[in-house]
Amino acid sequence: MKNVIERPLDVLNNAKGKEVLVQLKNNRQMVGTLLAFDMHINIALDNAKEILGESRKNLGLTFLKGDLTEDSTIDNIKQIIGDKKVDVVLSDMSPDISGNYSVDQARSIWLCEHSLKFAEMFLKSNGKFVCKVFEGEDFPSFAVKIKQKFKSVKRFDPIASRKSSSEKYVIAKSFKNS
Ligand SMILES: C[S@@+](CC[C@H](N)C(=O)[O-])C[C@H]1O[C@@H](n2cnc3c(N)ncnc32)[C@H](O)[C@@H]1O
Repeated sequence: MKNVIERPLDVLNNAKGKEVLVQLKNNRQMVGTLLAFDMHINIALDNAKEILGESRKNLGLTFLKGDLTEDSTIDNIKQIIGDKKVDVVLSDMSPDISGNYSVDQARSIWLCEHSLKFAEMFLKSNGKFVCKVFEGEDFPSFAVKIKQKFKSVKRFDPIASRKSSSEKYVIAKSFKNS
């Protein structure tokens, strides 16, 4: 099929699987194989290397910016890690605070549900899952879901959280990958 270029993003689309040069702020440059991108030009690069004069520095870690509730973000992650499974999934996501606690805790649980779904997709058997949650009326039903998937589930109240804060972490161990 012919590579049609009608919109700016078509250029990126046609470059998938090819080596691309990325011009960053402060005149930094990277090269790597373009795996995926989104409409905000968040991109995922394989074999990313930073160009430093005549030499290249291998970047062992690829950062991906994206909305975890979007299928496209999950697809991007799948493309990067392939069939591999991970040991830990950690979510520090929290919603934009509206000031209405009932709404905020519901949004927090919604993000937690997405991170749990993510963990179920990518965790190894016996893997660990940690997520930040605003405790509230929707928490108990979320806790039931986690307990079905992990052998050990505990709540953790960080010292750094304000005393009045309902922000907690759930620490779940031993993922039951069945
Ligand atoms: C408390 S901050 C976490 C800060 C981070 N741990 C750090 O130290 O920089 C909450 C983060 O959740 C992110 N977030 C909220 N909703 C998200 C979503 N749907 N997908 C991905 N990240 C999200 C926000 O962008 C924000 O950066």
